[in-house]
Amino acid sequence: MNLFLEISVLLITVIYSYLEALVKLFIPAKRKSIGAEIILITGAGHGIGRATAFEFAKHQSTLVLWDINKHGVEETADECRRLGSTVHTFVVNCSKREDIYSTAEKVKKNIGDVTILVNNAGVVSCADLLSLQDHQVQNTFDVNILAHFWTSKAFLPAMMRNDHGHVVTVASTAGHIGFEYLVDYCSSKFAAVGYHKALTAELSALGKYGIKTSCLCPVFVNTGFVKNPSTRLMPVLKPETVARKLLDGILTNKKMIFVPSSVNIFLFLNLFLPERALVALNKLQDLKFDAVVHGGKED
Ligand SMILES: NC(=O)c1ccc[n+]([C@@H]2O[C@H](COP(=O)([O-])OP(=O)(O)OC[C@H]3O[C@@H](n4cnc5c(N)ncnc54)[C@H](O)[C@@H]3O)[C@@H](O)[C@H]2O)c1
Ligand SMILES: *[C@@H]1O[C@H](CO)[C@@H](O)[C@H](O)[C@H]1NC(C)=O
Repeated sequence: MNLFLEISVLLITVIYSYLEALVKLFIPAKRKSIGAEIILITGAGHGIGRATAFEFAKHQSTLVLWDINKHGVEETADECRRLGSTVHTFVVNCSKREDIYSTAEKVKKNIGDVTILVNNAGVVSCADLLSLQDHQVQNTFDVNILAHFWTSKAFLPAMMRNDHGHVVTVASTAGHIGFEYLVDYCSSKFAAVGYHKALTAELSALGKYGIKTSCLCPVFVNTGFVKNPSTRLMPVLKPETVARKLLDGILTNKKMIFVPSSVNIFLFLNLFLPERALVALNKLQDLKFDAVVHGGKED
């Protein structure tokens, strides 16, 4: 096809997509049923992972819960069973590739093929770049992004065979905007957003339309993950709110889930506001949390 024709087709596609989105605003999205799925959640022993497990449990799905914290993950499992779901727990250190691979083998052998994979486990250090210990930086990348590769390599093959599944990446607004005292964290979350986008493109290129992807990007959540967070323009969310939005996004195969959705406006402003205005907006936003800040002072 010649270029002129292809560009015309592109423009028609753009207009069609906008019209479709407009119509869909008024029609409730269809929700898929997940009662027969096997759902694996990493970092299910606390916070967003735990709240997400509760939401899935209400659908009576089979849950496979991973966490490094045995007590936490058992507590989550007890409540999920009470809600009516079948639950298996594993103590896994997601910063260790071999730990992930060996536990994945046990899951496949004893429970079955995971069809919804939720990569949620995450860590944060909250310190300026020069105060970060090398092992902290390493661990941030091991858990927040590399683990996503190892779990996917373990569970995607079965999803590919059946052309059925869903890979969920828990990233953050910090995967779209750079924040001070979170250099390692933001880099790892930008990587997670990139992981989600590239994997989405690859599954489509391979014609695996039955494998869906979703990426969750919330602002601060009051799980104790970041200590004493506050901002002037955004709420500090409850894990239950985030988990409900996440589940809704998964059930409707939504690709990018911002919580609150108004984060979109900030990202849009970031694209075209002049540098000086962005600095002013940042100041207005007045983001605060507990962090170790030495600012390069040697002691
Ligand atoms: N809380 C926030 O403000 C916020 C905002 C945006 C995104 N997120 C992301 O949401 C996810 C969950 O965060 P949360 O707020 O629920 O934190 P949380 O600390 O309450 O829960 C994280 C869970 O992951 C587990 N975990 C940590 N390291 C692990 C490891 N090496 N192996 C296995 N499990 C491990 C912890 O034991 C814990 O149960 C993270 O990926 C985080 O980056 C959090
Ligand atoms: C998890 O693995 C990392 C990397 O090997 C290690 O530094 C850390 O101590 C481990 N955590 C636990 C609780 O075993």
